[in-house]
Amino acid sequence: MSLQGEKTRNLYKQAEKVIPYGVNSNFRYWGADDTMVITKGKGAYIWDVDDNRYIDYRLAFGPIILGHAYPSVIERVQEAIKDGTLFAWTTPLEIKVAERIVRMCNVDKVRLTNTGTEATMHALRIARAYTGREKFIKFEGQYHGMADYFMYSTASSPKSALGSRRNPIPAAVTSGIPSEISKYVIVLPFNDFERLEETVEAKWGDLAAIFVEPLLGNMAGIMPKAGYLEKIRELCTKYGIVMVMDEVKTGFRIAKGGAQEYFGVQGDLVTYAKSLGNGFPIAAIAGKEKVMMTIEPGGVAHGGTYTGNVVGTAAADATLEILEKQPIHEHLYSCGKILRDGIDQILTQAGIPHHMTGLPPIFGYVLGTNEPPTDFRAYADGDDQLYEKIVFALIQRGVMPDADGREPWFLCYSHDEQIIQETLTIFEDAVDDVKKKL
Ligand SMILES: Cc1ncc(COP(=O)(O)O)c(C=O)c1O
Repeated sequence: MSLQGEKTRNLYKQAEKVIPYGVNSNFRYWGADDTMVITKGKGAYIWDVDDNRYIDYRLAFGPIILGHAYPSVIERVQEAIKDGTLFAWTTPLEIKVAERIVRMCNVDKVRLTNTGTEATMHALRIARAYTGREKFIKFEGQYHGMADYFMYSTASSPKSALGSRRNPIPAAVTSGIPSEISKYVIVLPFNDFERLEETVEAKWGDLAAIFVEPLLGNMAGIMPKAGYLEKIRELCTKYGIVMVMDEVKTGFRIAKGGAQEYFGVQGDLVTYAKSLGNGFPIAAIAGKEKVMMTIEPGGVAHGGTYTGNVVGTAAADATLEILEKQPIHEHLYSCGKILRDGIDQILTQAGIPHHMTGLPPIFGYVLGTNEPPTDFRAYADGDDQLYEKIVFALIQRGVMPDADGREPWFLCYSHDEQIIQETLTIFEDAVDDVKKKL
């Protein structure tokens, strides 16, 4: 059965005529019968063209931290853009936002960008310039954006392409990358202390950076093992490697100061996007003074016509003000915990083997593995098909997480206990229905 109602189907067909596969990002393509067309969002809800309402847990892949069309953010943007949107000069708003990020995230300096990809791309350049080295480590299953260098061994790679655990192969996840690029990328399984230490000790002279998603926001929210981020920090300090905490998904979400605050580990560089602007396009690279100051005229180039534009910056100003002053995270954790525990209980009662992952504001569950997965190879042994069946049953009942279990469930400030209870009732019904049809 298709997820599309009649109007959605017709509009999607129209989209396909002018937009490849009818979507502006491959990640949004669920097939010709199930790709949605959405007309509006408000708070915790979105509506499709057929006017079906969904409780939204995709939240646009994470940015919507407060809620869709959150009034005070929208108003701040509307007010600010009355005086223009772009000047190619510094604005007072940019200074205010940078000061907030410095204060909230315990970093020295900040440069704004528009997307997470721009932030990680620049972070890699800065790290290379700072160290005079060219290669970097990334972990299997982690995603750092669309730039060529990062499109290896993400959660989109088939497990069979990864090579042996002892000697992993960087597996390209897109056509169109020059073959030479892979020689700069060293991939490792996450949470494997031994492989990390051996690799850094053998190759540190070539290593500019270690990129890490501190909690695996693109792989069901799998957590770092105790001491793993600290180990990365220790090795980076010992061998003069730049530790890049990619907080595009965790930043401002799992704590006011993101994963650096939550785990108590500071990167040399940090990348932010998503929750920074509650759905407006804004991102940032931040970090330690000595590393960030390699950005200089005649030194490391960073820029872009739209960096620091008034639309995104005003949204960040309003969003961060709320995140800094109001008990948003307490709410995300309390509602998220009820939902996460409730799902855990329903799956247990239904006799479906599973493991819960992540933290209440960004969590997941993996079906059908014996052990709790701690890396992508173990995650890939899970039962994706059952996961998707349950999600389709949820969507047909008005609850929308992503159909792909690699993408976590996201909470926002507009989810409340009543919405969570409604979700759990629907979840129980969806699981019952799927079980009957198995
Ligand atoms: C951890 C991480 N880094 C980088 C990116 C890229 O960000 P963007 O899609 O804004 O380019 C993403 C996007 O999902 C991400 O999750």
